[in-house]
Amino acid sequence: MAQTAAPAAPATAAAFPSAADIEAQVVTRKTRRGAGNLFFAQTGTVPHLAPLPERPTLVDYFKLRFMATSNHCLQSANRALSKGMSEEIVLACLLHDTAQDLIKVDHGWWGAQLYEPYVSAKVSFAIRYHQVLRFYEDQEHGYEYPDLYRRLFGHDYRPEPYIERTDQMVRNHKWYLAPRLVTVNDLYAFDPRVQPQLEHFTDIIGRHFKQPKDGLGFDGSPTAHMWRSLAMPDHPL
Ligand SMILES: [Fe+2]
Ligand SMILES: [Fe+2]
Repeated sequence: MAQTAAPAAPATAAAFPSAADIEAQVVTRKTRRGAGNLFFAQTGTVPHLAPLPERPTLVDYFKLRFMATSNHCLQSANRALSKGMSEEIVLACLLHDTAQDLIKVDHGWWGAQLYEPYVSAKVSFAIRYHQVLRFYEDQEHGYEYPDLYRRLFGHDYRPEPYIERTDQMVRNHKWYLAPRLVTVNDLYAFDPRVQPQLEHFTDIIGRHFKQPKDGLGFDGSPTAHMWRSLAMPDHPL
């Protein structure tokens, strides 16, 4: 197994904020940074959301609720597909950040839980732990610590102990490569010129996602309430 490494110190730390700078920004905001994309407007006010069909499918959520994350996730899945990775990894890439439309903080855990009733254990493992592995380089598999994280967390940020402990566990797990491959595809998945379509992944979704016949949110699964929160984020209670 590859060895854990702390985030590498950037050569150009001055180009990025410090963790203290990031912390000082908290009181300048009206929303917390962990709030899901559906629950606040980046600028202006939030729009009306189109209603979902009576028995909504994953594709419906992609098209009508995952507007903020879908392109990034499609790009990530597209890269996994083009590199010949397994269908489970392609699906994990396709789903890996969609929970950020519900909640951003600890989105790996939220996302894995959201999808657990409908995907294989390996796919949910990949979704859960990609969040942690993003903080740690693995040059053997082509993953470098991203400048994006220096901007988001500060150039001198050190992940919290639960993240470090989880990294140690995942590094020694037989499925380490699954979340690692999600991070490898993540890194290259921010090109706005690439617009892969969800239809490219219909077959993979059909083979690896157990779509409930009553619709996501209305099937009585342990995570149905999470889907309903995505379906109806304007409900006050
Ligand atoms: Fe992520
Ligand atoms: Fe991502």
